Amino acid sequence: QWTTASIVDDTVEAIRVQVGDRRAICGLSGGVDSAVAGALVQRAIGEQLTCVFVDHGLLRAGERAQVERDFVAATGVKLVTVDAVDQFLDALAGVTDPEEKRKIIGREFIRSFEKAARDLVADADGDVDFLVQGTLYPDVVESGGGTGAANIKSHHNVGGLPDDLQFQLVEPLRALFKDEVRRVGLELGLPETIVHRQPFPGPGLGIRIIGEVTADRLTTLRAADAIAREELTAAGLDRDIWQCPVVLLADVRSVGVQGDGRTYGHPVVLRPVSSEDAMTADWTRLPYDVLERISTRITNEVAEVNRVTLDVTSKPPGTIEWE
Ligand code: XMP
Repeated sequence: QWTTASIVDDTVEAIRVQVGDRRAICGLSGGVDSAVAGALVQRAIGEQLTCVFVDHGLLRAGERAQVERDFVAATGVKLVTVDAVDQFLDALAGVTDPEEKRKIIGREFIRSFEKAARDLVADADGDVDFLVQGTLYPDVVESGGGTGAANIKSHHNVGGLPDDLQFQLVEPLRALFKDEVRRVGLELGLPETIVHRQPFPGPGLGIRIIGEVTADRLTTLRAADAIAREELTAAGLDRDIWQCPVVLLADVRSVGVQGDGRTYGHPVVLRPVSSEDAMTADWTRLPYDVLERISTRITNEVAEVNRVTLDVTSKPPGTIEWE
């Protein structure tokens, strides 16, 4: 019988057979797939696995802690964090074009991961032969055919490593759909916050700041995003919406009034969407009282933001992310 427990047992056994007594490396993104893949491999080969987490500074509030504290506590995995915040900010300085941002973030990500992998291989005297990837069954099918929609924006993944840094792939989720991956994650004892995390793009907040990405703008967006997420969670809406990007229109200013002073701040856009697979999406009709709480709190608590707007565009014609 094909139960979640038997999927775990069979997969763990297959990983042991594949990896033997060699070593493996796994990049964690903070997302569900890499977390579950890493946890499965950890269960199979323990200390022979090292996970690498690149902090590119484009993450949301609390996400680094979720990996460093919660994921490690749940799995006992050996984790290396690469602090690449300054490197990414430097590379993104002055850049406003969405595709250029995506390419830079993808390139810097590979660079950071590659360096961490090289260091690890050097430390292990070349004994690291395997790279763990959280490839799902739909990814396997999709990369065979290649859909048009995948080419609208350049997505990135740890795949483009240089020829002299070669690994065999361990892909423990290759036969699974997303809902099965979540069940496996729960079976392995991963926290709900990781297992039921909503989709978040690889380029992170970098593509939710319309305009140049700077440290101050990231701080502003992170604060507004944290409030929106808190209120959606408090209203019990997390499972009803696909995701709700918060976008900072960093190059736009508008006049406002707060207390007895005039303000000249930036708008944020709430982009709540409902979707089955992100290929199409509808804007979510959030309850007005929830919208009101989000708006009031953001404008009260985030000094640079004086206006909260709602995106009521479906996909198509709008994509989910603004860039
Ligand atoms: P769009 O904006 O194309 O987004 O409608 C569709 C879904 O994909 C997510 N997304 C990404 N995910 N790397 C990712 O891993 C990326 O570069 C990327 N860009 C968008 C987006 O959040 C939505 O769920």
